[in-house]
Amino acid sequence: MKEVKIALFGCGNIGTGVYKLIRNNCIKIMDAEGVSIVIKKILVRDLSKKRYADIDESLFTNKIEDILLDKEIDIVAEFIGGESPAKEYILKALNHKKTVVTANKEVIAKHFEALQEAARQNEVGLYYEASVGGGMPIIRAIHQSLQANRIQSVMGIINGTTNYILSKMAEEGREFEDVLSEAKELGYAEPDPTADIEGYDARYKLSILATLCFNKRVQINNILCEGITKITSVDIQYARELGYGVKLLAIAKDTQNSIEVRVHPTFIPINHPLYAVRDAFNAVYIKGDSVGELMFYGRGAGDMPTGSAIVSDIITASTNKHHYVKLVATPDEEIFEDNWLTEYYIRLSVFDKPGVLSKIAGIFAKYNVSITSVLQKARGDVTAPLIFVTHEAHEKAVLSAINEIKKCEYVNSVENLIRVEK
Ligand code: HSE
Repeated sequence: MKEVKIALFGCGNIGTGVYKLIRNNCIKIMDAEGVSIVIKKILVRDLSKKRYADIDESLFTNKIEDILLDKEIDIVAEFIGGESPAKEYILKALNHKKTVVTANKEVIAKHFEALQEAARQNEVGLYYEASVGGGMPIIRAIHQSLQANRIQSVMGIINGTTNYILSKMAEEGREFEDVLSEAKELGYAEPDPTADIEGYDARYKLSILATLCFNKRVQINNILCEGITKITSVDIQYARELGYGVKLLAIAKDTQNSIEVRVHPTFIPINHPLYAVRDAFNAVYIKGDSVGELMFYGRGAGDMPTGSAIVSDIITASTNKHHYVKLVATPDEEIFEDNWLTEYYIRLSVFDKPGVLSKIAGIFAKYNVSITSVLQKARGDVTAPLIFVTHEAHEKAVLSAINEIKKCEYVNSVENLIRVEK
């Protein structure tokens, strides 16, 4: 039996989950794979902090050198999270010829090339299955099971916190702030939920997915990013009336001539497979030219689901004869399309007077934006909600029309614009 010694960087929820999985659940699997994984050291910041009682205290160290200079340690698993010092620690580990397994989507998304290059030069591996979709096995599926495909598009619900909030809003008719406060109290949302609710977390994950799916480096600044903070229960009700649900979608499309990458709240039809993904679950829906449509579904966070992906990487890294290093092309900036073609839901508040509807329709027509449906729900107040759904139209044309509509004296406000995906 081959013995592989590893170290952990960090020992919070995920680190403890990984420890438990390696010590308890994986014995049989390791037997079958012919490998015994031994945790030799655990790097923590504060040695005095109380940890999971079963962990032998002699494993803890607060000096990274104890791990870097230990020639017996082949693999380091990182779950410190955030950009710094995690990035520096991962690079140091690679440069000390240790294979790295990480769940860190921010570091992988921002520093993909530098980390791959360090792994290649040191002839070690870099594994990051847990960085997207937690326990959902998506990364290795893309580069080891879908090689026969040109992947045309990937659409995902890859942030559990926002999916939980939007599901609660839809199912209980509640407002964003109310559900967010409850989610924080219950520990479903972070005390500072900015990265989740503003879409940054989903953007990191989409950068990784699109880079792997298209074999072209997609940087986070190539991705349009809008969060869910402006979604109201009113929009969700109109969505339902029109036959849609609202999800925070991460969307990437590659036509070979152009790449379109965006994270934003999206109307999706109730018969779309992603519509049924509720609560904090994640799902990724891929279209490949040979396989057709595929969907992966599972828990995108939590100590055990994330631990499941990390331990799978550790076992794969321990048994692989050669580590797989992904080389991707750096495309010209011009390839990134920002004038995509899609449908739009637009909710206005207008002064309830004769001729207003036809004036607004005239502005859409001026910009070549064609309307599919209109809902007007006047209640005898001074203002009335007016809802449009467009046919496919170019982003820039719709934004120009909205800009002109905003300035009209008969328009009280543009309340929301949400893109539609089918
Ligand atoms: N904060 C993330 C989410 C989990 O809500 O999905 C870790 O990626």
